[in-house]
Amino acid sequence: MPKVLISDKMDPKAAEIFRARGVEVDEITGKTKEELIAIIGQYDGLAIRSATKVVKEVLDAATNLKVVGRAGIGVDNVDIPAASAKGVVVMNTPFGNSITTAEHAIALMFALARQLPEADTSTQAGKWEKNRFMGVELTNKVLGLIGAGNIGSIVADRALGLKMKVVAYDPFLTPERAVEMGIEKVALDELLARADFITLHTPLTDQTRNILSAENLAKAKKGVRIINCARGGLIDEAALKAALDSGHVAGAALDVFVEEPAKASPLFGTPNFISTPHLGASTSEAQVNVAIQVAEQMADYLVAGGITNA
Ligand code: MLT
Repeated sequence: MPKVLISDKMDPKAAEIFRARGVEVDEITGKTKEELIAIIGQYDGLAIRSATKVVKEVLDAATNLKVVGRAGIGVDNVDIPAASAKGVVVMNTPFGNSITTAEHAIALMFALARQLPEADTSTQAGKWEKNRFMGVELTNKVLGLIGAGNIGSIVADRALGLKMKVVAYDPFLTPERAVEMGIEKVALDELLARADFITLHTPLTDQTRNILSAENLAKAKKGVRIINCARGGLIDEAALKAALDSGHVAGAALDVFVEEPAKASPLFGTPNFISTPHLGASTSEAQVNVAIQVAEQMADYLVAGGITNA
């Protein structure tokens, strides 16, 4: 019987599915790298979220490992070349948390437009600063999507429902798909020049790292508001801080940071800056979805050799 370790907190549905499919399962979370190295040799599969770092030393000790399943989208916490070199298949669940992440981006866009966190803090401090918090409407504003894949396309759909105009920079977006989505495909410079709000929905790669660099932030429309629920590293955080301080960027909301957990950042405390602790995928619905998907995919592979989302 194949044996799987669930090493990060995961919805109980995952373990239920493994057992129902004839896969033995242990749920042991919060292990250090050394502790994981000590036990990983017993397992055929490793099911993770983002806390477990599947680095080369862990893979070297994983003498029986056949598959790593990431309950989520990003596989940044897995050393893919080292896994591939050992013939370990790495799977993710690219769809289970897309709606949830898109909704978080929309929530942050509203929060920026109406300065909700500052207004809440001020009101609960007994200040009633009605004149301090003048917002902007979303209706008729231009939303610039950097990345129009699974999550970006859901954000576009919701934004169109809010009567925004949506433009997208995405080298993989075909003109036909843009028309079908009701959005306009543009070059990055055009997006920067036109967007009132920019939201990022792309993985972190050599091509996307610092895509909002100091130079590109300077090209953005004055007063732009920026949302990042994708990956830290897409925005140059020092440049963003300078652009917020100068007022060129009117507001920014980051769910993701270059260093996570982000316990300190020069951005913290900046007016019109909102942060959340990588909550993009954190809804009960999304966590059930990704747990079910990862367990089904891993069980398919371990029991029958079927490969999905690898
Ligand atoms: C993902 O990659 O699925 C999201 O960023 C959520 C997460 O890492 O927990």
